[in-house]
Amino acid sequence: MGALLRFADSFLWGTATASFQIEGGIQDRGWCIWDDFCRWPGKVVDGDTGDVADDHYHRYRDDVALMKRLGHRAYRFSVSWPRVLPEGVGEVNQTGLDFYRRLVDALLEVGIEPYVTLYHWDLPSALQRRGGWTMRDSAQWFADYVQVVAGALGDRVHHWITHNEPWVVAFVGNLQGRHAPGWEDLMQALQVSHHLLLSHGLSAPILRDAGDERTRVGITLNFSPAYPASDAPEDVAAARRHDGYINRWFMDPLYKGRYPLDMWDLFGYCAPRVAMGDLEAIGAPIDFLGVNYYSRAVVRNAPGRLLDYETLHPEGEYTAMDWEVYPQGLTDLLARLAKDYDVGALYVTENGCAYPDAVTADGRVHDGKRVAYLRAHLAAAHRAIEAGAPLKGYFVWSLMDNFEWALGYSRRFGIVYVDYATQERIPKDSAHYYASVIAANAVEAPE
Ligand code: FCB
Repeated sequence: MGALLRFADSFLWGTATASFQIEGGIQDRGWCIWDDFCRWPGKVVDGDTGDVADDHYHRYRDDVALMKRLGHRAYRFSVSWPRVLPEGVGEVNQTGLDFYRRLVDALLEVGIEPYVTLYHWDLPSALQRRGGWTMRDSAQWFADYVQVVAGALGDRVHHWITHNEPWVVAFVGNLQGRHAPGWEDLMQALQVSHHLLLSHGLSAPILRDAGDERTRVGITLNFSPAYPASDAPEDVAAARRHDGYINRWFMDPLYKGRYPLDMWDLFGYCAPRVAMGDLEAIGAPIDFLGVNYYSRAVVRNAPGRLLDYETLHPEGEYTAMDWEVYPQGLTDLLARLAKDYDVGALYVTENGCAYPDAVTADGRVHDGKRVAYLRAHLAAAHRAIEAGAPLKGYFVWSLMDNFEWALGYSRRFGIVYVDYATQERIPKDSAHYYASVIAANAVEAPE
């Protein structure tokens, strides 16, 4: 038995989801860029769509009751922009807004604190037809949408996350082409990254104005802590470029009011157009930083590649995403963020793993690898707290199996299993394990 690692009484335990990945209910909303992307042949495994997903739009009451039974204290979900504004701007779909009001009320009734993400990748298709995030106007479109949501929920939602993983939106969607809208253009991707940040900067004051003294505003980034493949100076420099591209490109504008100069130089003529005042808006203080962590990157110098580096595939344990299991990376990351930036409060807003889970003859799902993953990462989070990182809460990705973007329903991240034919929910062993961690407010250190 390992030592028992205790968390503060106020530590917040929850799970996370996103609108497009679980809601379904496509009839009652406008289309988003992922609806289009799913219909682009070859882009999403098996041609899967978000039309039904987990049917959470119709089953949210049962899902909230399930969270309650599992002891969860918080729930991070996202609002679908085209469910609220089918055309992206203009007319409000009152039914859509009411759905989120009922969801929030159902959570509050059972004492689960809502953490609401405003953009988890489902841009209204109507706005994509106007150029989407490549247009400077997109920052204002987003701010106007945020105004509508904050006006409806600002009296009962106290924690807002403007964006989820703007790096993925900008670069996986506009440079790698693996996500919606599916473009492959560095200049465009960089411009999108700036507009996402600007939209964050314009929205934060709107959220504060619509709330009260309890209102807290943050943003969630995906992080990829970089480890050089060797001590050779060129590998160390390569790891620094990876860090600049994924981590500092967003952290520096948010917390230091400027883009990292080394990256600005490397991007050269592709660097984004930035107007006077943008960086002041982006760098205005926020209350917390959401950290999504799944794995690390081991980086080697590789001239000719994007930014002249490549990531390696070191020996080790891997999940069904082919992501290395590396809990120490979470400790290192949280400690580093607390050291290099004035982050205030930190939350792990996503952490979890996909494995090929199956229901066994006893009607259960024995996902021992996920239990081990969660345990190791919670212990890693605890080590970071002991080292001084101001970590206030942790959200498992995900509450339940769902639409894993370009991989469709082929990857299962839930601590609750979803039978897509019947929509039955079966808590996996990891859900029971997580419930026991929450009840004890402690985790046993791995051996
Ligand atoms: C993150 C996304 C989330 C989920 C996990 C596995 O990048 O924010 O929606 O797909 O990865």
